[in-house]
Amino acid sequence: MKIAIRYYTKSKKGNTEKIAKFIEDKINVPALDVTHPLEEEVEQLLLVNAMYAADIDKEIKQFLRNNKDKIKTLININSAASGASTLKAVKKVCDKEGINVSEKEFHTIASWIFINKGRPNEEDFARLEAFLQEVVVNG
Ligand SMILES: Cc1cc2nc3c(=O)[nH]c(=O)nc-3n(C[C@H](O)[C@H](O)[C@H](O)COP(=O)(O)O)c2cc1C
Repeated sequence: MKIAIRYYTKSKKGNTEKIAKFIEDKINVPALDVTHPLEEEVEQLLLVNAMYAADIDKEIKQFLRNNKDKIKTLININSAASGASTLKAVKKVCDKEGINVSEKEFHTIASWIFINKGRPNEEDFARLEAFLQEVVVNG
Protein backbone atom coordinates (compact mmCIF):
# COMPACT_ATOMS: atom_id res chain seq x y z
CA MET A 1 0.00 0.00 0.00
CA LYS A 2 1.33 3.42 -0.96
CA ILE A 3 1.55 5.69 2.08
CA ALA A 4 2.91 9.22 2.51
CA ILE A 5 3.51 11.34 5.62
CA ARG A 6 3.30 15.13 5.59
CA TYR A 7 3.43 17.49 8.56
CA TYR A 8 3.41 21.13 9.49
CA THR A 9 5.00 22.23 12.73
CA LYS A 10 4.87 25.78 14.03
CA SER A 11 6.02 26.02 17.65
CA LYS A 12 9.61 25.78 18.85
CA LYS A 13 8.72 22.55 20.67
CA GLY A 14 8.15 20.89 17.29
CA ASN A 15 5.52 18.50 18.64
CA THR A 16 4.11 17.75 15.20
CA GLU A 17 7.53 17.09 13.76
CA LYS A 18 8.31 14.70 16.65
CA ILE A 19 5.07 12.80 16.03
CA ALA A 20 5.75 12.67 12.27
CA LYS A 21 9.31 11.40 12.80
CA PHE A 22 8.05 8.75 15.23
CA ILE A 23 5.70 7.50 12.52
CA GLU A 24 8.53 7.58 9.96
CA ASP A 25 10.56 5.33 12.24
CA LYS A 26 7.69 2.90 12.85
CA ILE A 27 6.40 2.45 9.29
CA ASN A 28 9.57 3.24 7.36
CA VAL A 29 8.08 6.00 5.21
CA PRO A 30 9.82 9.42 5.06
CA ALA A 31 8.10 12.18 7.06
CA LEU A 32 8.32 15.38 5.02
CA ASP A 33 6.94 18.82 5.75
CA VAL A 34 4.12 20.27 3.68
CA THR A 35 6.50 22.18 1.42
CA HIS A 36 6.99 18.79 -0.31
CA PRO A 37 4.15 18.04 -2.73
CA LEU A 38 3.02 14.45 -3.25
CA GLU A 39 4.86 12.94 -6.19
CA GLU A 40 2.29 10.24 -6.94
CA GLU A 41 -1.13 9.08 -5.83
CA VAL A 42 -1.16 7.60 -2.32
CA GLU A 43 -3.74 5.30 -0.75
CA GLN A 44 -3.22 6.84 2.66
CA LEU A 45 -1.91 10.31 3.43
CA LEU A 46 -0.97 10.59 7.09
CA LEU A 47 -1.44 14.29 7.71
CA VAL A 48 0.24 15.28 10.96
CA ASN A 49 -1.01 18.64 12.17
CA ALA A 50 -1.98 20.71 15.21
CA MET A 51 -4.53 23.21 16.40
CA TYR A 52 -3.49 26.87 16.16
CA ALA A 53 -5.93 29.63 17.17
CA ALA A 54 -8.81 27.13 17.07
CA ASP A 55 -8.06 26.15 13.45
CA ILE A 56 -5.53 24.34 11.27
CA ASP A 57 -2.81 26.41 9.69
CA LYS A 58 -3.04 27.92 6.21
CA GLU A 59 0.01 25.89 5.10
CA ILE A 60 -1.97 22.70 5.72
CA LYS A 61 -4.99 24.05 3.88
CA GLN A 62 -2.86 25.05 0.90
CA PHE A 63 -1.16 21.66 0.82
CA LEU A 64 -4.56 19.95 0.67
CA ARG A 65 -5.75 22.17 -2.15
CA ASN A 66 -2.56 21.62 -4.15
CA ASN A 67 -2.46 17.85 -3.68
CA LYS A 68 -6.14 16.88 -3.66
CA ASP A 69 -5.93 14.71 -6.78
CA LYS A 70 -3.23 12.50 -5.29
CA ILE A 71 -4.93 11.60 -1.99
CA LYS A 72 -7.22 8.55 -1.88
CA THR A 73 -7.78 8.69 1.90
CA LEU A 74 -6.51 11.16 4.47
CA ILE A 75 -5.75 10.02 7.99
CA ASN A 76 -5.71 12.83 10.51
CA ILE A 77 -3.00 12.68 13.18
CA ASN A 78 -3.08 15.73 15.40
CA SER A 79 -2.42 17.44 18.70
CA ALA A 80 -3.71 20.42 20.64
CA ALA A 81 -3.15 21.91 24.06
CA SER A 82 -6.86 21.82 24.89
CA GLY A 83 -7.57 18.28 23.76
CA ALA A 84 -9.75 19.48 20.89
CA SER A 85 -9.34 17.58 17.63
CA THR A 86 -8.54 19.22 14.28
CA LEU A 87 -10.66 16.65 12.42
CA LYS A 88 -13.57 19.01 11.88
CA ALA A 89 -11.30 21.74 10.45
CA VAL A 90 -9.47 19.25 8.22
CA LYS A 91 -12.77 17.79 7.00
CA LYS A 92 -14.10 21.23 6.18
CA VAL A 93 -11.30 21.77 3.65
CA CYS A 94 -11.39 18.17 2.41
CA ASP A 95 -15.15 18.20 1.82
CA LYS A 96 -14.72 21.27 -0.32
CA GLU A 97 -11.84 19.72 -2.28
CA GLY A 98 -13.38 16.24 -2.61
CA ILE A 99 -10.81 14.46 -0.44
CA ASN A 100 -11.93 11.36 1.46
CA VAL A 101 -11.14 11.54 5.20
CA SER A 102 -11.00 8.52 7.49
CA GLU A 103 -13.27 8.70 10.53
CA LYS A 104 -10.48 7.06 12.49
CA GLU A 105 -8.03 9.66 13.72
CA PHE A 106 -5.23 9.92 16.25
CA HIS A 107 -5.31 12.80 18.65
CA THR A 108 -3.16 13.68 21.64
CA ILE A 109 -2.92 16.48 24.13
CA ALA A 110 0.38 18.34 23.67
CA SER A 111 2.54 20.86 25.43
CA TRP A 112 2.15 24.56 24.76
CA ILE A 113 4.06 27.31 26.60
CA PHE A 114 3.75 26.20 30.25
CA ILE A 115 0.96 23.65 30.02
CA ASN A 116 0.92 19.88 29.41
CA LYS A 117 4.65 19.61 30.05
CA GLY A 118 6.22 16.49 28.54
CA ARG A 119 3.23 15.69 26.29
CA PRO A 120 3.13 13.82 24.03
CA ASN A 121 4.72 11.35 26.43
CA GLU A 122 5.60 7.66 26.33
CA GLU A 123 1.98 6.64 26.79
CA ASP A 124 0.82 8.92 23.99
CA PHE A 125 3.44 7.43 21.66
CA ALA A 126 2.41 3.89 22.67
CA ARG A 127 -1.18 4.76 21.75
CA LEU A 128 0.05 6.16 18.46
CA GLU A 129 1.94 2.96 17.73
CA ALA A 130 -1.22 0.92 18.36
CA PHE A 131 -3.19 3.28 16.09
CA LEU A 132 -0.63 2.80 13.31
CA GLN A 133 -0.90 -0.97 13.66
CA GLU A 134 -4.67 -0.87 13.43
CA VAL A 135 -5.29 1.78 10.81
CA VAL A 136 -2.15 2.13 8.75
CA VAL A 137 -0.30 -1.16 8.72
CA ASN A 138 -3.38 -3.39 8.58
CA GLY A 139 -5.40 -0.98 6.48
C1 LIG B 1 0.45 29.97 17.83
C2 LIG B 1 -0.20 28.83 18.55
C3 LIG B 1 -1.58 28.81 18.73
C4 LIG B 1 -2.20 27.74 19.40
N1 LIG B 1 -3.56 27.74 19.54
C5 LIG B 1 -4.17 26.66 20.13
C6 LIG B 1 -5.59 26.61 20.24
O1 LIG B 1 -6.33 27.48 19.80
N2 LIG B 1 -6.15 25.53 20.87
C7 LIG B 1 -5.37 24.49 21.37
O2 LIG B 1 -5.91 23.56 21.91
N3 LIG B 1 -4.02 24.52 21.26
C8 LIG B 1 -3.40 25.56 20.65
N4 LIG B 1 -2.03 25.58 20.52
C9 LIG B 1 -1.25 24.44 21.01
C10 LIG B 1 -0.78 23.54 19.88
O3 LIG B 1 -1.88 22.94 19.21
C11 LIG B 1 0.13 22.43 20.44
O4 LIG B 1 1.14 23.00 21.23
C12 LIG B 1 0.75 21.62 19.28
O5 LIG B 1 1.30 20.44 19.80
C13 LIG B 1 1.79 22.45 18.56
O6 LIG B 1 2.47 21.66 17.61
P1 LIG B 1 3.88 22.16 17.05
O7 LIG B 1 4.85 22.15 18.21
O8 LIG B 1 4.23 21.13 16.02
O9 LIG B 1 3.67 23.49 16.45
C14 LIG B 1 -1.41 26.64 19.88
C15 LIG B 1 -0.01 26.69 19.71
C16 LIG B 1 0.60 27.75 19.05
C17 LIG B 1 2.09 27.73 18.86
